Amino acid sequence: MRIGRTLPPAAAPIYLNDIFSGLKGLIRGPKEINRFESELKAHYNVKHCFLLSSGKAALTIILKALHDLYPERNEVLIPAYTCYSVPSAIVKAGLKVKLCEINPETLDFDFDQLKKILSQPGATNSKNSILAVIPTHLFGLLADVGQVRKINTDDKISIIEDAAQAMGGTLKEKKLGTLGDAGFFSLGRGKAFSIVEGGIILTNNNSIADNITKQMKTLPTYNMLEIIKLVIYSIILTIFMQPLLFWFPKSLPFLKLGETIFKPEFPIKKMSSFQAGLAKNWQTRLKNITSIRQQKANAFTAAFQKKDNLISSMIYENETHFLLKFPLKIYDTQILDRILSKSEKQGMGIMRAYPDSINNIKELKNYFKNKTYPKATMISKHLLTLPVHHFVSLSDRLQIKKLINNELGF
Ligand SMILES: Cc1ncc(COP(=O)(O)O)c(C=O)c1O
Repeated sequence: MRIGRTLPPAAAPIYLNDIFSGLKGLIRGPKEINRFESELKAHYNVKHCFLLSSGKAALTIILKALHDLYPERNEVLIPAYTCYSVPSAIVKAGLKVKLCEINPETLDFDFDQLKKILSQPGATNSKNSILAVIPTHLFGLLADVGQVRKINTDDKISIIEDAAQAMGGTLKEKKLGTLGDAGFFSLGRGKAFSIVEGGIILTNNNSIADNITKQMKTLPTYNMLEIIKLVIYSIILTIFMQPLLFWFPKSLPFLKLGETIFKPEFPIKKMSSFQAGLAKNWQTRLKNITSIRQQKANAFTAAFQKKDNLISSMIYENETHFLLKFPLKIYDTQILDRILSKSEKQGMGIMRAYPDSINNIKELKNYFKNKTYPKATMISKHLLTLPVHHFVSLSDRLQIKKLINNELGF
């Protein structure tokens, strides 16, 4: 166990001031929720916005609303390599996970396979049972939502933009989160912008919004005990996300920090006014966070000489390209293991990304018996993420660069 300065793999700052705003929000009650909602609608120029307890809660509610619109459809098409919260939300909504291979160069869909899946004709197909397709800006990387729209000619298949990790990003001046029929953000710990936990749904589609409104009416709010827990947790995060103290929560195995688990049992609640208050001044704060991440991601892009270690879509020009974590492909597993163990010793916050492709999740394996997604599985074995958050100092960055380049032989 390391005692001493340790970088969290991902972190969004919450300051004491923000917690005071949260407490003020709690006193203001529903007005605070309305304020946050109106600011989001104006900023994203969308007609409808809904605030929930997490990103997976947001996704579950979108899916339930879509299923109400098209009850004959029950499959949700996602990349075979993504966060385990996504299949968890699909199962929670009572729907089936359907996978599409990824392109290891971009971590986006393999568009040839996507085309095939979305054009399968006839009764044997599952095309007519697909309810939604979920392009995902994984780690903040840009997913080509426009391409999905071009390929998808069935207007009963909705495009849900998973911008859980990408709040604050843009694509050709369009804001991420607004490119699909509905989009959602996560405001969880370690996301681009955090209020401890939270989820935002954006949509311009009136029928989807009407059904979401119906779903929202059935949801509970946080009770007082849960709000007190949130307040305490926000204080703990403010203190222990600091690199000088992060070694402590990291050494507590029951916190399972950094673990990604498939777990379809999770609460779905409306966001509390404490969380909406925590988000006060979110536009300025998000802008600052975005520019810090962008600078650090650019520096890492320049730091690694072999471009096949990088994800090619990162080389989009003129985008607010901030990245939540910096993905790096290391093909030699011995080198990868050495990087991880040295990072662990030096407290550098380098992590393996998701442990396996979605088809290999133990609880889901039966659904994908005869199907393999070799590129997604390969990426899960060879992808590391480097921290780019505001606690990463220049000397941390140089140390990470040296550690990796030494192992790669540069
Ligand atoms: C790509 C992606 N989608 C959805 C989610 C779910 O968000 P939350 O953790 O707020 O439930 C996450 C969270 O890690 C994510 O990374």
